[in-house]
Amino acid sequence: MSSPESPKLPVPADVDLSVRLGGLTLPNPVGTASGTFGKGLEFQPFYDVASLGFIVVKTITMEPRAGNPSPRLVETPGGMLNSIGLPNPGIEAYVRDTLPLLRTLGAPLVINIAGHDASEFARLAEILEKEEGIDALELNMSCPNVSGGMDYSTSADGARDVVSRVRDVTDRPLIAKLSPNVTDIRPIAAAAAEGGASAISAINTLLGMAVDWRHRRPVLGRGIGGLSGPCIKPVALRIVRDLWRTVDVPVIGIGGIQGVDDVMEYLLAGASAVQVGTANYYNPCVGKDILEALPRCIRELGASSVRELVGTLEDPR
Ligand code: FUM
Repeated sequence: MSSPESPKLPVPADVDLSVRLGGLTLPNPVGTASGTFGKGLEFQPFYDVASLGFIVVKTITMEPRAGNPSPRLVETPGGMLNSIGLPNPGIEAYVRDTLPLLRTLGAPLVINIAGHDASEFARLAEILEKEEGIDALELNMSCPNVSGGMDYSTSADGARDVVSRVRDVTDRPLIAKLSPNVTDIRPIAAAAAEGGASAISAINTLLGMAVDWRHRRPVLGRGIGGLSGPCIKPVALRIVRDLWRTVDVPVIGIGGIQGVDDVMEYLLAGASAVQVGTANYYNPCVGKDILEALPRCIRELGASSVRELVGTLEDPR
């Protein structure tokens, strides 16, 4: 699962890594994907997570949730399937116990929320509106592991509805996290942008399944799950490129990023920023590794900023 490294050149200090996502300015484009970075606190012993462009926390819901039956994770060739089921302590306990700790981390903080319906999404945003130290909200409209979890990213009307209901209660940057499990994501992303999304996160996991044939059973406790990791990167890159061409808001690329080469590919395809997910499970320092190598790769293309590279992939001949 390794990718070829760029030649080792001195790290240039004069490269501008900052990016803008809607109303949000980030120090660099490298963030973490929801659900793959613990509560956000567990990685601090490995490196100073304040160096990250942003941290996206595991999804929070209105009420506490226990999550799905185990097994919840299974490795697959080039990736893994998860069926976690959004376990979390609920918004009240989260705001009381976890948010104060997250505020001390020093990286821009994105709180990921999910509701049973559009009004619950809005209610969550309303509760968080009273809280300081939150830089953006990511709307998890695309969880494949709970009943109805993808409803708001499998139809344009649904996407517009949920984002606009949240937009009614907050001026914060809103990131709509969309599902790849659709025929064409573009009208859904456009509808989310019309509803007031400041950026689109693409993609959440691909629906999949693992089978234990000897026991005639699916491996995961819920039967199906979401596929992530390097095996989904080609799908995600294609979607990021499609969205860059068609949607007016910035795109955050997610899917199979495990090193700086992947980040460069996403930037050129049209991502203004990226989220690193599955790789955090097997390389807790992946964020730091990418950030150390990124300025050199940008210079290698004759550029001096991230922003000037976004979307500059040439069209096929
Ligand atoms: O099952 C989960 O908690 C995954 C959530 C997601 O993919 O959004």
